[in-house]
Amino acid sequence: MMTEDLLAAEPSPVHERQAPHVDAPTYARMYRQSVTDPEAFWGQEGKRIDWIRPYTRVKNTSFEPGNVDIRWFEDGTLNVSANCIDRHLETRGDQVAIIWEPDDPEKDAAQHITYRELHRNVCKMANVLKGLGVEKGDRVVIYLPMIPEAAYAMLACARIGAIHSIVFAGFSPDALGARINGCGAKLVITADYAPRGGRETKLKSNTDTALLHCDDHVQCLVVKRTGAQTTWTAQDHDCNALMAEASAECPAEEIGAEDPLFILYTSGSTGQPKGVVHSSGGYLVYAAMTHQITFDYHDGDIYWCTADVGWVTGHSYIVYGPLANGGTTVMFEGVPTYPDAGRFWEVCDKHKVTQFYTAPTAIRALMGAGKEWVEKYDLSSLRILGSVGEPINPEAWNWYNDVVGKGRCPIVDTFWQTETGGHMLTPLPGATKLKPGAAQQPFFGVQPVVLEPTSGEVIEGNGVEGVLCIKDSWPGQMRTVWGDHERFEKTYFSDYKGYYFSGDGCRRDEDGDYWITGRVDDVINVSGHRMGTAEVESALVAHEKVAEAAVVGYPHEIKGQGIYAYVTLMDGEEPSDALRKELEVWVRSEIGPIAKPDLIQWAPGLPKTRSGKIMRRILRKIAEDDFGALGDTSTLADPSVVDDLIANRMNRA
Ligand code: WT7
Repeated sequence: MMTEDLLAAEPSPVHERQAPHVDAPTYARMYRQSVTDPEAFWGQEGKRIDWIRPYTRVKNTSFEPGNVDIRWFEDGTLNVSANCIDRHLETRGDQVAIIWEPDDPEKDAAQHITYRELHRNVCKMANVLKGLGVEKGDRVVIYLPMIPEAAYAMLACARIGAIHSIVFAGFSPDALGARINGCGAKLVITADYAPRGGRETKLKSNTDTALLHCDDHVQCLVVKRTGAQTTWTAQDHDCNALMAEASAECPAEEIGAEDPLFILYTSGSTGQPKGVVHSSGGYLVYAAMTHQITFDYHDGDIYWCTADVGWVTGHSYIVYGPLANGGTTVMFEGVPTYPDAGRFWEVCDKHKVTQFYTAPTAIRALMGAGKEWVEKYDLSSLRILGSVGEPINPEAWNWYNDVVGKGRCPIVDTFWQTETGGHMLTPLPGATKLKPGAAQQPFFGVQPVVLEPTSGEVIEGNGVEGVLCIKDSWPGQMRTVWGDHERFEKTYFSDYKGYYFSGDGCRRDEDGDYWITGRVDDVINVSGHRMGTAEVESALVAHEKVAEAAVVGYPHEIKGQGIYAYVTLMDGEEPSDALRKELEVWVRSEIGPIAKPDLIQWAPGLPKTRSGKIMRRILRKIAEDDFGALGDTSTLADPSVVDDLIANRMNRA
């Protein structure tokens, strides 16, 4: 079990030349103001970005059931792309905005893209979009590798007021098609291929397949990544050719603060993924502020977040936050272990990275490869380390701290979600005494509360545990579910009335520090990626030989959680290893490789209540190999199925 007293060093100095943006007394003072007078606090902080028409109304938010409505800076107008590019041109036009590092350093050279070049490319791309008929408010799906064009596409959409929806390049054609249809996109931007870890995903071919199930009018803009041959249809447009012709000037549209900047699909505990909608004004203020404060970003720093722009981390902390702050951000196309397990550290050394932000799953995998891979490289430029996506176990935390940070780089363990837009709980470098595994303290404006799970009562005091809710709105909060505001209210505001419910459990320790204990709903966290068990189940039952399926998480050494599927076959179907393989391939093709079950157990029957409800609590316990504590099974329609499941469980040591 994690203990609080593993490490409680005084906050270390984090910069040799400059004081941290926020020290402990400043944090306390600012936090107090942020929650006692949010109007004044955010009224001031909103000025960190440029507005076309300044706002006069700061906060207008309600978590009231039946009337959830969230607006920040609502009468202000701005342009996100101009905030991330144009406003820096005068002072830092020749500064590098994006350092692009390819998948294979032997095949491709790194690129250094200045703010001036970024401006040129984004304007060109925006003009290409306009030429294809994309207008303000239209949706554009982006299905690209981690190449500079992904950032250009995001910022080009923002420039003309189109709403982007990025689909991670690891998702299948089916998942892509569902998202194109879900948001009613006019255009998909893709590439020929996506090189990753020395292998190539056929993005264009996937897109072709996806578009078979979409409206005929959806157009396709294709970026050349590898240049290898692809199919070409009448809906396709050559992005490189069009950009070469396009004008390098494109005015930035005036956009309302509350107009959507992007939609990002994410898994929930029920049904298919939902389109999380983020705003333009509040989101950007929050992404910029958290990026600057949490990572103590200073001018001249080289900041690297290893995420993919297909996830919210890539939106807020590769593109929007760093660029709004005029920073230099590294965009990495590859994976931690290709060409070898030293890749991350080689890139840190090569580009003299100062802030490094990654996920615990990567740290655990690299820890397994051995510290000699780290020690080959000069990591003296590193100043701050970050962790995101899942709770970090103390062993991984200590390795990160000792081997990578050499004990001199504070680790910020940032807890947040696709829905929150930016960091919610995190230590701040230079302000927080660190505790391995704790997300610790709320960011400005965030009011965490611990509730008793069943009664929903607020649990006061320290040394307590319950579910994590947030009491009031913050500017980065999602505004709605695309096309389904009711689902937004139901998912986040109905279980605990008047609060935003995170879906996570948490503990507040004796010092008042927060520890996330993991999801309390049917969402699992596989390698820092969120997966709805319902989604995997519906993929499985879509297979003709499957009658029923139940999916739960189980502890996995590297991934954090693995996917454990109980499958009941149709009458007359025989279980076999070949069928198991077939189902794995099936789920990969229905959703994507990240959804592939790690373990499939043949289940002649599933434990159900007499009313037919699957008792997941029991399935979870068996998957966790903790079936000694199954609890009450007397309400089951047929208690004997449990014995069979235990006898045939897949994960015995
Ligand atoms: C879920 C959100 C936005 C970050 C990327 C994942 C878990 C995230 C932490 C952390 C413990 C964490 C939670 C959360 N999570 N960060 N530092 N410590 N748990 O975003 O896909 O929306 O997933 O990830 O369970 O609810 P996401």
